[in-house]
Amino acid sequence: MSRNRVVYFVKRPDGMVTNDAFAIREEPMPILSDAESVIIESVYASVDPYMRGRMSNRKSYTAPFQVGQPMQGGMVGRIYDPGRTDLAKGAWVFGVWPWAEYAQVKAQTVRPLAPGTPPTASLHVLGLTGLTAYIGLTQFGRSVTGEQLVVSAAAGSVGSLAGQIGKILGLRVVGIAGGPEKCAWLVDRLGFDAAVDYRHENFPANLKNAVPDGVDVYFDNVGGTVTDCVMAELNLHARVVICGQISLYNLDSPADERPRFADLLISRAQATGFIVGDHQALYPEALEHLSVWYREGRLVAEETLVDGFDQLIDAFIGLFQGANRGKAIVKLREETGADDDSCGGASTPSA
Ligand SMILES: NC(=O)c1ccc[n+]([C@@H]2O[C@H](COP(=O)([O-])OP(=O)(O)OC[C@H]3O[C@@H](n4cnc5c(N)ncnc54)[C@H](OP(=O)(O)O)[C@@H]3O)[C@@H](O)[C@H]2O)c1
Repeated sequence: MSRNRVVYFVKRPDGMVTNDAFAIREEPMPILSDAESVIIESVYASVDPYMRGRMSNRKSYTAPFQVGQPMQGGMVGRIYDPGRTDLAKGAWVFGVWPWAEYAQVKAQTVRPLAPGTPPTASLHVLGLTGLTAYIGLTQFGRSVTGEQLVVSAAAGSVGSLAGQIGKILGLRVVGIAGGPEKCAWLVDRLGFDAAVDYRHENFPANLKNAVPDGVDVYFDNVGGTVTDCVMAELNLHARVVICGQISLYNLDSPADERPRFADLLISRAQATGFIVGDHQALYPEALEHLSVWYREGRLVAEETLVDGFDQLIDAFIGLFQGANRGKAIVKLREETGADDDSCGGASTPSA
């Protein structure tokens, strides 16, 4: 093996992120430089909206990516060279490492995959987006059976899981998504009670009709004008879970956006921003519920899988164009590669 491809972050975007923010470079294969590290052969890469936030220099909850450094994010791969660690060659692991075909990673920062689950599940339903949906809804939505839940970006990874968890918890769930196909999928496949297309010219009226009993919990992934319309429908003592604001991530000056505090006042509502990583003590409980629901087929964990290392950048940009349904994942290579098949069976739940 003589070459390795790596995606570098080369330019902070102005407004909507475009391909010129990245460069794919060929490099020599990484060589183990210490006894604690392994070389991983990357198989799947998660592309996530939060990465756009890290490409800006603005105040945020996590440090910005540095120009000239490789992009990095949630990854799944196999141990290619275990070096002097006790990890087995070929073992499946997940963690955060560079967007590279092969990466040198500290062994203690990677985790083995949950036995009996598909490798990619650790990038969504049993990973970041599942945890976000569960913790956001249960800790900050504080819903009780029979309440009205609205979820924005409902056909995406966090949103589709948050809405389904809402159904499991006995809520009436309305999703907001872009286009009639995604809306039909939310109702027909995921069991949402209704779905509203925010791109439709009658969106505000259609939303109002979809929530005849108002909104008790709003799980917001989007912000902007979509959120303005939901805020107008809040019930007394509603809870707004501020999970994401994707409609603002590519704006030049998001500071121009004004939160609608008047709506919170009128409905004596509470809006709470949360970052899932602040709640790691809740991960074991959350993963227990998510695993059971997933195994039982009560959570559909849809993936939009695109093939090829070359597709990483377009798949990431596609998040801001609604290209994905469920979790956006890039398959970087075939699953076979390293020597053994120690993935734990990779059985796909019937969901
Ligand atoms: N708080 C946390 O700890 C945490 C953790 C993970 C993710 N998040 C946030 O959760 C949200 C969802 O993340 P995800 O990973 O599940 O991504 P995702 O929803 O799978 O993908 C993004 C989706 O957002 C929608 N979208 C994009 N631009 C939009 C716009 N201008 N207006 C309205 N909708 C737009 C698109 O769907 P349509 O086709 O419907 O437009 C797109 O498919 C993001 O805001 C993310 O930052 C927060």
